[in-house]
Amino acid sequence: MCGIMGCVGGDAVQKVYRGLVKLEYRGYDSAGISVLSYGNICTIKKAGMVSQLERELTSLNGTAAIGHTRWATHGSPSDLNAHPHASGKFSVVHNGIIENYSSIKEELIAEGYSFKSETDSEIVVHLLNKYYNGDFLMAVKNTVQRLKGTFALCILCADCNLIAVARSRNPIIIGRGKGCFYASSDMPALAGDAESAYVLKDGQIAVIGEDRAEVYGFTLEKQQAEFVPVAASQTDTQLCGYPHYMAKEINEIPAAVKNTLSAFGKDCENALKGLYCGVNRIILTGCGTAYHSAMTGAYVMEEVLGVPARAEIASELRSRGCVMGGDTLLIAVSQSGETADTVEAARYARERGAKVVAVTNVAYSALNCVADVVVPVRAGTEVCVAATKSYCGQIAALLAVAGALSGKRIDGLEDIASACAQVLKCKYVHALARLFTQSSGVYFIGRGVDYPVALEGSLKLKEVSYIPGEGYPAGELKHGTLALIDENTLSVAIITDRALAAKTTASVQQIRSRGGKTAVIASQSCISKELEKDAQVCIKLPDCPKYLSPIISVIPLQYAAYLAAVICGKNPDKPRNLAKSVTVE
Ligand code: AGP
Ligand code: GLU
Repeated sequence: MCGIMGCVGGDAVQKVYRGLVKLEYRGYDSAGISVLSYGNICTIKKAGMVSQLERELTSLNGTAAIGHTRWATHGSPSDLNAHPHASGKFSVVHNGIIENYSSIKEELIAEGYSFKSETDSEIVVHLLNKYYNGDFLMAVKNTVQRLKGTFALCILCADCNLIAVARSRNPIIIGRGKGCFYASSDMPALAGDAESAYVLKDGQIAVIGEDRAEVYGFTLEKQQAEFVPVAASQTDTQLCGYPHYMAKEINEIPAAVKNTLSAFGKDCENALKGLYCGVNRIILTGCGTAYHSAMTGAYVMEEVLGVPARAEIASELRSRGCVMGGDTLLIAVSQSGETADTVEAARYARERGAKVVAVTNVAYSALNCVADVVVPVRAGTEVCVAATKSYCGQIAALLAVAGALSGKRIDGLEDIASACAQVLKCKYVHALARLFTQSSGVYFIGRGVDYPVALEGSLKLKEVSYIPGEGYPAGELKHGTLALIDENTLSVAIITDRALAAKTTASVQQIRSRGGKTAVIASQSCISKELEKDAQVCIKLPDCPKYLSPIISVIPLQYAAYLAAVICGKNPDKPRNLAKSVTVE
């Protein structure tokens, strides 16, 4: 949520701008850049996308710059609320929420500071001025000690060619390049520019200059920082000929699944087995799409392991005070490993003695630091806000975990990547997308392992095309949702489990009897004449073992959602109001 970029050295403004473009998936309601130019701080900022800044870049020159692409939490996405917030000797960009901003704002106003924005973040720049007596680092220290909440800060000071960064529960990385140092919210933005990087820990401040970086604790004790190489390749963040990242990333699903399964090595297996000793229940958690893969994981684990396993939405896990202890294995699933609700759920579990496993696509993420064991998802960088390849990678990883904990092989796992490639060529996905766009509401139904896929199909469609709809367990239709069915609605049935096919087919007939249009996405062996006959669209999937089907049945749903967004003229990569990594609770 929100992208921060900073650079000291060389053509800092261009480097910061380039970084912001790469970070835009993290937030895109407004953007800005401040640069230090001959002892003065100059700032441009605007509501809208990062590209709005491009025309004015030539007016900025200097060797130290900071930039921000925002996802508003406090104050509308306006020019004034956009970051950086510059005043006096400082300019600041912030990711997160300062919870005690209100009382500090009152204090600062009483002392004569005047505020230009409605953001929580602006207090930071005034606190810096208040505490500044010529010592930049000391002002930063005194400022961060006043802040409650979550923050990644990047700060420019008019008196020195340095940038300070600070982290408390929101990500910030420093990178070493040729003749310059960087600060960035995420690693892919550094690829191709920085050679090595250090991910700040919570409670750390760093000061970067053209040729040095120093890391401190919040009370300014010096700390060691071990820089790790940054992959030079930028292909992950390039479109490679695709019109959108969503299309590219759906096409990368076979590789995501294959690479995830190959990365699951003996070490991981042994660590999981060790952790599993004494466990008699499993809770899987995540948000949004990751919650849906957690649900699939729970269904599979309960059946394969014979141990109670259930999925909990990460925010609810804490809100309702979920009971757990040393006998609980908490598996936290997150593409970014940064999602605040999921990271906090993992911390909550740890505090109660539970054993924690992280399933993440980002090796240096906050979630990994909380976990006892990390199971890698190797989907590669996912730029589109809508998660696609990471979802399939997560399910593959969870199946590998189920296999490791049970000591039994999950049938067919070795063939799943090629089944994904086959499904990418499925017919009638365009027809399904057109039906989506012609419907007043789209309802997705499934039973058993098909139910989380129904939820995911619905989330994907809503997220990128804004067409309303819902996912339901097929059995629940008759308990309420049937009231919504009419000739303008479309219901999509996902049917991959032969044992449940007849029941879901009956639900489809109930919809048709009430005039509702239906589409079917089903495994070959689940399709009856009755099911196919009146379907507006019938997408046939290859048969595969039950636990694997959620990886393939979701693909036509993802792709049809993508096409629907394009037909509706929406940008599927950057849906309105959303951001890729939700680092606020
Ligand atoms: C998915 O399409 C969504 N953008 C969203 O639900 C996402 O899955 C959720 O915010 C969790 O993100 P994470 O996997 O990075 O934790
Ligand atoms: N809370 C800050 C604001 O609303 C920062 C939001 C962000 O992380 O983009 O401006």
